[in-house]
Amino acid sequence: MLNAEMKPIIIDCDPGQDDAVNILLALAAPKELDILGITTVAGNVPLEKTERNARIICELGGRADLPVFAGCRASMKRPLVTAEYVHGREGIDGANVYDPEMPLQSKHAVDFIIDTLMAAEDDSITLVPTAPLTNVGTALEKEPRIASKIREIVMMGGAFREGGNVTPSAEFNVYVDPHAAKIVFECGRPLVVLPLDVTHQVLTTPARVAAIGALGTNVARNVQGMLDYSSRYDVEKYGVEGGPLHDPCTVAYLLEADLRFQSVRSAQVVEIHRNR
Ligand code: RIB
Ligand code: CA
Repeated sequence: MLNAEMKPIIIDCDPGQDDAVNILLALAAPKELDILGITTVAGNVPLEKTERNARIICELGGRADLPVFAGCRASMKRPLVTAEYVHGREGIDGANVYDPEMPLQSKHAVDFIIDTLMAAEDDSITLVPTAPLTNVGTALEKEPRIASKIREIVMMGGAFREGGNVTPSAEFNVYVDPHAAKIVFECGRPLVVLPLDVTHQVLTTPARVAAIGALGTNVARNVQGMLDYSSRYDVEKYGVEGGPLHDPCTVAYLLEADLRFQSVRSAQVVEIHRNR
């Protein structure tokens, strides 16, 4: 393990099968990552489903004690765009979907982010957004003083040379809320972006998904079902052997940065087009 110390993190997500696997990956590293809370946002599917799905995954991972918060149900300035065509009507199709027992926290996710950061030391908390950046952008706009509390932001989103997955240039998380993305990219805190250029190299090939299923646990069966379901869209669209496992690249980076990723310093640019 490269990072000896335990990192306090907040995962901001829109489960989504790949968000779900990212949460499970983080839950599998309790000595390295201290998950302060999971905040959810509308994205892959509407907020009512992303927050429910996050609670299902926490129960699946044996962590019904984790606080899950619902956040923004629409982008800052644009109509919401969802992706049921990739993730299915429930958002984590392929998994066992049910009404979870664990409660949803009553506090709004944006207020949880602000309150948690304002109570923390400077440079202390890592944000791990794997969804449209509406919650994080809104929190930074509502309380700019939280910026100094952020150790770094490790996010999945954007596309540099790879091209987009919604338009020829736009990746889904940035496309859904470009205004929030601009706020985050310009917040001045250390920012690690895992774009499609990276995630399109992390493919859920049939052999890898079968190996996961062969573990035989309830978690493994649900992950196999989710990846089988969600990989179909990219396999058909790109003709690749497996679907890209986007969001788990963030926690994988936190756990094994030097062994897995070659970092490139670059200027992040958000092009906000008028055509939507
Ligand atoms: O473009 C991929 C991103 O959009 C991932 O975070 C996926 O979950 C969707 O939200
Ligand atoms: Ca996501």
